Amino acid sequence: MSLLSGEHRSFWVASTLPSSYPSLEQDVSVDVAIVGGGLVGITAAKLLKQAGKTVAVIEADRIASGVSGHTTAKLTALHQLIYADLVEEVGTDKAQVYADSNQAAIEKVSALVQAENIDCDFSRQDAYTFARTQDNVGKIEAEVKAASKLGLPVDYVSGVDLPFEIAGAIKLPNQAQFHPRKYILHLAGTLAGEGSHVFEQTRVITVNGENPCRVMTEHGGTVIAQDVIIATNLPILDQGLFFAKSYPKRSYLIGAYIDPTKAPTGMFIGIGQTYRSIRTTPTDDGRVLLLMGGEGHKVGDADDTNERYQRLVNDLKTDFGVDAVDYRWSSQDMVSFDKLPYIGRLTPMSNHTYVATGFSHWGMSKSILSAMILSDLILGKSNPWADTYDAIRPTPFVSQTSIKQNLDVGSRWVGDRFKGLFESEEDIQSGDGKLITISGEKVAAYRDDTGNLHKVSPVCPHLGCIVDWNAAEKSWDCPCHGSRFSYGGDILQGPAVKCLASKSEVNS
Ligand code: FES
Repeated sequence: MSLLSGEHRSFWVASTLPSSYPSLEQDVSVDVAIVGGGLVGITAAKLLKQAGKTVAVIEADRIASGVSGHTTAKLTALHQLIYADLVEEVGTDKAQVYADSNQAAIEKVSALVQAENIDCDFSRQDAYTFARTQDNVGKIEAEVKAASKLGLPVDYVSGVDLPFEIAGAIKLPNQAQFHPRKYILHLAGTLAGEGSHVFEQTRVITVNGENPCRVMTEHGGTVIAQDVIIATNLPILDQGLFFAKSYPKRSYLIGAYIDPTKAPTGMFIGIGQTYRSIRTTPTDDGRVLLLMGGEGHKVGDADDTNERYQRLVNDLKTDFGVDAVDYRWSSQDMVSFDKLPYIGRLTPMSNHTYVATGFSHWGMSKSILSAMILSDLILGKSNPWADTYDAIRPTPFVSQTSIKQNLDVGSRWVGDRFKGLFESEEDIQSGDGKLITISGEKVAAYRDDTGNLHKVSPVCPHLGCIVDWNAAEKSWDCPCHGSRFSYGGDILQGPAVKCLASKSEVNS
């Protein structure tokens, strides 16, 4: 059982009121249906509505309650180390598009904040990627060189505003940070009306046909639209095979109130296995919250996810002298094999169904640039970045990373079926979950604090992999493509659109 302190909830969620939009009860017709109410979906809806389109945002849960509500919320074109790799792997032209588009996304947010007068703690910040040890300085220098050649105004610096020694850092000035839920909820509030809608707690199960498209939802309502954007982190539609062109990775964040005089100025990220992502945020009661993130791992690769939080807590104490943690939460994103997001048409045959995915943990600027590209494509405008990120571009199915990932998925599909073969319900402590075998049948079982055993099928309804227990989040996570489920089997994150099958709740 976790002994970690602090509220186990995203600060962004805890510091904003829940949204309350209606569910879809009957069929509606709009120009564009947008599946997913995160940063991509809401921004695209805003841009399209501004251009005169009617839109319907359809969110399975609540607006900005998924990945967009669980981020570090750094708006930057400095993505740890990326430019030296991009130049080498995809070439200078595409690396240039990456730099230009991410910089433009920051300016887009800035312009919207000003035009809409959005109270979202938006502030300009310098971004840094730092090396703590001398042996990593070469990587920083290579990044400075590559980013400079692309026209980014970077500098190499030997010191930063952090309370520990570093060996060197790259600095990209005039980036930004914000409160993502304040921003998204404000924009969402401007959408409904004049033929446009926002629906919550309405799960889309599939999209049928094109011209028009019919967006089918779990409880029967249909949205009929000329165009559809699937903005669900990993698309809920499998036709584009995006689950085989990326892999799911989790990461962890803690937040602690800090003496404002000791709060670092800027946004920071380290490099290497023990990297830490650091920023601060003002709070509505006038205090300053320090955020520290890290401990990323492929879904299903961590034996004890509580340990991941604990290591962050240890570093917070060592590096900042802070022992009390006030918030902790985790997040999950899809990592693209070629380091570029997939933005555009779902398949070569799709002319009206679009996706955005594979943000590789830098989803704030990439969400915005996705919304800019997709709204341009739907409006029939040319977009200078669309070809580079084209979702149906030839993708590296045969790269080392992709082969390893897809072999991993294959071996898990087979090997995980033997997990829990010799475990029984007596082996499960209160607060713990395990794969067990009952009468020869595999069961995913969680024992709650009162001793009740909650039993669900361990077979992921997406493509049939076996789920893993995530102790820190008390969830069943699918190691293949990242679907997540509550201990009772409810969907927390797709691409699955169905719950884990119930095996009934028993007292034991
Ligand atoms: Fe694809 Fe589970 S998410 S099989």
